[in-house]
Amino acid sequence: MSPLISPSILSANFGHLEKDIEMINRSEADWIHIDIMDGVFVPNISFGFPILKYVAQLSEKPLDVHLMIVQPEKFIPEVKALGSKVMNIHFEACTHLHRVIQQIRDAGMEPGVTINPSTPVWMLQDIINDVYLVQIMSVNPGFGGQKFIPHSVEKVRQLRDLISQSGSKALIEVDGGVNLETGARLVEAGADVLVAGNAVFGSSNPAEAIWALKNL
Ligand code: DX5
Ligand code: ZN
Repeated sequence: MSPLISPSILSANFGHLEKDIEMINRSEADWIHIDIMDGVFVPNISFGFPILKYVAQLSEKPLDVHLMIVQPEKFIPEVKALGSKVMNIHFEACTHLHRVIQQIRDAGMEPGVTINPSTPVWMLQDIINDVYLVQIMSVNPGFGGQKFIPHSVEKVRQLRDLISQSGSKALIEVDGGVNLETGARLVEAGADVLVAGNAVFGSSNPAEAIWALKNL
């Protein structure tokens, strides 16, 4: 089955963001991936809600919002107001992860949980039946265009096993350094959703790059 593709606008050209979002609208992308960074949880700051309001208005694809911030529960109303489908928070940023997942669901969004490269998959075993998706970071979060960490493929396999053993319906999303080569290995290991920033926006034909990932 072909993977869902979620292009990350972190790598888009903010000088002509409208053009890049229209490209995504016309492409075979399934979602649009939005990276929110706070300069605390990760060593970078991306963009905030005033810009995202504009992105949300332009996008015809469901929003896949990845929050790399501390205390993400504080922003559930703002993420909801964007009309987001998925609100994806970091395992490492939430002391009371179970509660925050319920709060996201109660707000009418699909809860996602992301794990950093140093967090083992088995840490998710008590939460796997409560989430819509698990995102595996295949780079250390904070920047686009980084090199793929090969061990992430093994983590996708482990997560696929955990999901089938627990009867969970969680989707497996992978974020960081995804291109045609790493994407093929991830899909083979059981990934359902591929996030791609540089592989799309660094290409001379971004819509074709999305098509190629979709048709791996
Ligand atoms: C990194 C972000 C990613 C990033 C991916 O912290 O979460 O979504 O945009 O970019 P690439 O695909 O270039 O690694
Ligand atoms: Zn991301």
